[in-house]
Amino acid sequence: MAGDPQARIQELRAEIDRHARRYFELDDPEIPDADYDRLLAELAALEKAHPDLASADSPTRRIGGQPNPVFSPVAHVVPMMSLHNAFDRNELRAWAERVQRRLGDREAGAYAVEPKFDGLAISVLYRDGQMARAATRGDGRTGEDVTGNVATIAGLPRRLALRPGSGPPPDMLEVRGEVYLALSAFEALNQRQRDRDEKSYVNPRNAAAGSLRQKDPSITAERGLSIWCYQLGAIDGGPRLASHTETLEWLDSLGFPVNEHAARLESLDAVEGYVADLEARRHDLDYEVDGAVVKIDDLALQAELGADAKAPRWAVAYKLPPEERTTTLRDIEVSIGPSGQATPFARLDPVFVGGVTVTTATLHNEDQVAAKDVRPGDTVIVRRAGDVIPEVVRSVPSARPEGTVPWEFPRHCPVCGQPLRRDEGAAATFCANFGCPRQVRGRIEHFAGRMAMDIEFLGEKNIDRFVTNGMLADAAGLYRLDFNRIAAMKGFGAVSAENLRASIEASRRRPLHRLLFGLRIPEIGQANARLLASSFETMDAILAAAEDDLAAVEGFGPVIAASVRAWFDDPRARDLIDRLREAGLQMKAETAAGSAAPQTLTGRAVVVTGTLEGFSRDQARAAIVARGGKSPGGVSSRTLALVAGAEPGASKVNKAAEAGVPVIDEATFVRLLETGDLDAADPGAGGAEISGPES
Ligand code: IVH
Repeated sequence: MAGDPQARIQELRAEIDRHARRYFELDDPEIPDADYDRLLAELAALEKAHPDLASADSPTRRIGGQPNPVFSPVAHVVPMMSLHNAFDRNELRAWAERVQRRLGDREAGAYAVEPKFDGLAISVLYRDGQMARAATRGDGRTGEDVTGNVATIAGLPRRLALRPGSGPPPDMLEVRGEVYLALSAFEALNQRQRDRDEKSYVNPRNAAAGSLRQKDPSITAERGLSIWCYQLGAIDGGPRLASHTETLEWLDSLGFPVNEHAARLESLDAVEGYVADLEARRHDLDYEVDGAVVKIDDLALQAELGADAKAPRWAVAYKLPPEERTTTLRDIEVSIGPSGQATPFARLDPVFVGGVTVTTATLHNEDQVAAKDVRPGDTVIVRRAGDVIPEVVRSVPSARPEGTVPWEFPRHCPVCGQPLRRDEGAAATFCANFGCPRQVRGRIEHFAGRMAMDIEFLGEKNIDRFVTNGMLADAAGLYRLDFNRIAAMKGFGAVSAENLRASIEASRRRPLHRLLFGLRIPEIGQANARLLASSFETMDAILAAAEDDLAAVEGFGPVIAASVRAWFDDPRARDLIDRLREAGLQMKAETAAGSAAPQTLTGRAVVVTGTLEGFSRDQARAAIVARGGKSPGGVSSRTLALVAGAEPGASKVNKAAEAGVPVIDEATFVRLLETGDLDAADPGAGGAEISGPES
């Protein structure tokens, strides 16, 4: 560490004290927990390296914050401690080794592992089976009396549930646990706060803390707090318990909420597996967890291991990667999305958050930048939870350097240079240039997407290249691509060019509703595209439909109708549709049976053998299936006909002769597809002309 350690230690203590006060006493932290942990870890390392600079009132030796004088103080009989942290597997292993060293040749045995709930520690005292008093942790020795508020927590027994035969209740029992606000309750609370024009809470933990410290218990009750119980404090009477696992089982039997993810694990490998699993599923839970607490299960060993000034030695908090961190915001830029939407985003100093290193984060829109009050140069809180894209939560006001200025939204599109536009009352800003290259690419990407025309071998990279090369200007251009040129392009070859050609080719036969969805008409998602196709059946009918006809489609109404009508009335849209029609795209809806082709072969089996001229084997089968028929691999007495091309399979032709199944040529097959009628097919084109082994 560079600089003067004494000065840095003083600086850190002052900063930590300031943040601790905001967190523990004001329920309004300015920085994420992970940043607070880092400051503490830096201070602890410095104090360790310079024992002469250690001090008894350092925040490294302190638990929690000052009790609030609004509530009567409660002295804890057994102090409520904190936990030491492990930030990775090495630190977990180091903890386990320290434990083992203290125990000498005795085995530390199994670990009891459970989520580390992100709430507030609480102590609830029962006398003669009746809830008597509840207190916050406070500074660990003295907490605040919050009995009236804790009594409102649903699920926390006011009276112990004694099972028949479980004996008399302990004379005195102190249960400890974590009070929290379920995510669903947190969202509901913030909604109510906003509705009442009151400040919303930054996270569930602060909301829980604020709720628990209400002067009026009826307000606490309205918030809907919950609790997980995980420990005994003072106890007088009760059964002999040998392990933490037994403690949890007993608490459960008395009616206390005990978390279902508590587990007894035999090895550190298993503990690591548990944590990996917890990390993967943390967002499936209706409460926030910031790690796992790993405890030595055996209570006798726990007692022997004891505690240091701050935390027990028999437990460690194995922290999950933080989802919020602070970093410096270097600049704000705007990116243009496939629809032309201009989204501001932050360029950040790299920060490890949510398990990845993040260098950019979204700011959503112009108003959000203002609401979060972020400026280039600011220290900002970045959040990345699960797979959600990273976002800037807000700036840290106390860290703002002098001379920063509010950011202004640019006036021009960074891609095409044309003006950006934000409509009255709208949140989003758009590039209004229809020909903006980003939008051109975006429209083609959407058209080719899996739910639209499903062009398998056309990826974003190819679209980008073709658009940049000037080979492609819109979706209709896909059907005129020069595949010889593509085959010669770097990174391509005959095979990939052919794959691309075939996948574009296949897209010509997609039904109307997919085409409509692929055109990305405003308001027309997949469901509305289907409604549009089934109501009007052809593209021409849609082009001709009056706005009233469109509004009459079930579920549409005037807004969607106007949007559809306006889109189709744009000459550029008409032109695109004309060119797609010229390219041979299906402009008709699927019939009820799920195909645009007439259902001439419903339920009948037609087998294909040998090489046809106008169809690949797959295409021939597809043509049969599209008409409601089947095309099995073998001939049977139920086969309607065997289509034989050049070099037919001998066994199929023999089987057909045996079973009396007509063998037909390609021309007859084409007529069969059209009419479904074998007799109507030209008898002269029948089996006799086929040079098969049987003739
Ligand atoms: S056991 C001596 N188990 O984490 C403390 N604590 O950072 C033993 N916490 O004060 C506590 N979930 O408020 C334990 N499953 C869990 C926990 C848990 C959250 C809290 C508790 C503690 C703090 C320490």
